[in-house]
Amino acid sequence: STETFKLNTGKEIPAIGLGTWQSGPGEVGNAIEVALKNGYRHIDTAFAYGNEKEVGEGLRASGVPREEIFLTTKLNNPWHKRVPEALEASLKNLGVDYLDLYLMHWPSSTDPSDSKKHYEDWDYVNTWHELQKLVDTGKVRSLGVSNFGITHLERLLSDPNTKIVPAVNQIELHPANPSPKLIAYLKEKGIHPSGYSPLGSIDSPLYRNETLKFIAESKNLSVAQVLLLWGVQKGWSVLPKSVNAERIKANFDLDNRDLTEEEVAKIDAIPDRFKVCGDKWLPIKVFFGDDE
Ligand code: A2P
Repeated sequence: STETFKLNTGKEIPAIGLGTWQSGPGEVGNAIEVALKNGYRHIDTAFAYGNEKEVGEGLRASGVPREEIFLTTKLNNPWHKRVPEALEASLKNLGVDYLDLYLMHWPSSTDPSDSKKHYEDWDYVNTWHELQKLVDTGKVRSLGVSNFGITHLERLLSDPNTKIVPAVNQIELHPANPSPKLIAYLKEKGIHPSGYSPLGSIDSPLYRNETLKFIAESKNLSVAQVLLLWGVQKGWSVLPKSVNAERIKANFDLDNRDLTEEEVAKIDAIPDRFKVCGDKWLPIKVFFGDDE
């Protein structure tokens, strides 16, 4: 699908992007190349995934010009006090001179010498103010956040030094983590939601969901395609991860396909709830339930 959404910066973000969380070495470069050769124009990575270098190799191997690609990476938690250096490190890894979107990966900073230690003297709101300075350098086209709840955004937006409203909040979004309150809040503030783990990640129980299976079979689509159509029709971009050429192609092949309002409503009514990515591995609590 070549559909796009407009960000509050005026830039367009393609509705379908290739996710690369858990895409391993030796496979992620090829996945990027296959995706770009098959029409994808949106790639999502992060310093924390440890694959930026290989992602960059894939970008170049595809032959697709840099300016046609929407490229996102994220500020890693141990770099909150050295934002300009973090950006330079990611640009160097990727072999590019600008990003389309730079996200604060988590509203949580950690001491680089100890990933279990939260910086008590530093606030993610300060990090945002450092990030804001990058826009004038031309190295970052749009700025956003990830894994932010309403609590975090309220504090960020009410700070007098906040001059830029995040263009994007990238969060976990699938029918078992639909976060309607947060989505409504983002809409009100003009912040575009982007959904990670749209398929429910590895060994997803969503493939066995009867509602999704029924809709998929009746339309001659895969459950994965139904999940992606649902997200895009709800108004967010989706970031399916795959390193398999056939699945990479199928996840993009959604032109002229859509769900009826009834089908969307049926998926909205799925009662199952699970989160793929929790906050237990972080030194501070991040998810307060206000993202529901
Ligand atoms: P693989 O990389 O082998 O294709 P999510 O995007 O929600 O994080 O889900 C990613 C997981 O879903 C990965 O394990 C990926 O495996 C798998 N996957 C990606 N696309 C499809 C698909 N179309 N059908 C089934 N599984 C898929």
